[in-house]
Amino acid sequence: MQNEELSAGRMWDKKFSREGYFYGFEPNVFIESKTNLLAPNGSVLCLGEGEGRNAVYLADKGFDVTALDASGIGMTKAIMLAEKRGVSFKTELLDLEQWEPRESYNAVVSSYLHLEEPLRTKAFRQAFSTLAIGGYFIGEFFSINQIPRESGGPKKPSLLYTIASLDSIFCLEDTKILYLEECDVPLDEGNGHQGNALVIRVIVQKL
Ligand SMILES: C[S@@+](CC[C@H](N)C(=O)[O-])C[C@H]1O[C@@H](n2cnc3c(N)ncnc32)[C@H](O)[C@@H]1O
Repeated sequence: MQNEELSAGRMWDKKFSREGYFYGFEPNVFIESKTNLLAPNGSVLCLGEGEGRNAVYLADKGFDVTALDASGIGMTKAIMLAEKRGVSFKTELLDLEQWEPRESYNAVVSSYLHLEEPLRTKAFRQAFSTLAIGGYFIGEFFSINQIPRESGGPKKPSLLYTIASLDSIFCLEDTKILYLEECDVPLDEGNGHQGNALVIRVIVQKL
């Protein structure tokens, strides 16, 4: 990245340096509702995990969790939250631009990781490639149609998602898209996400 000030880590460090947890302490409702798909005690990668709400929830449920994010402040707060809740997980502090995955996981979960292309396709396909056979990628992201709403999410169109954009990322030979929908849902996630929002929810399985 040429301009240091534009790096994802710096940008999100600024946001997460405020007091409190910007997206709250509870897991994303969609991810929480789909944990029944995951093999008990399996390994889960939380991609773009921020301040740790999904990772803490999943670790508490007995999963072997790794949280990956570019924000050092986000990851530090995630560890603090884990300690407070009496759970633990691994962290990987890195920008997905530099990611070279080495581990395999039973699931990848990701909420509101908004990446521009070509990084979006690269990172999501890399994440998918880490999955063991039968594993799931479960995600929730803001739709491009969320732009006029004030309930959360970026305003830059190139950071937002469409069904077609996710479909083309996951349209691979070893992939089954089990669920891919745009949904109008009530969000109650800290100060960051409040009110009805248009999100895209996706569940993809590795064949
Ligand atoms: C909207 S926050 C969501 C955080 C968390 N998933 C949640 O729902 O609470 C987006 C997160 O993606 C991370 N992120 C954005 N771009 C990234 C990149 N290029 N590499 C790694 N993490 C990135 C940010 O640091 C931030 O923590």
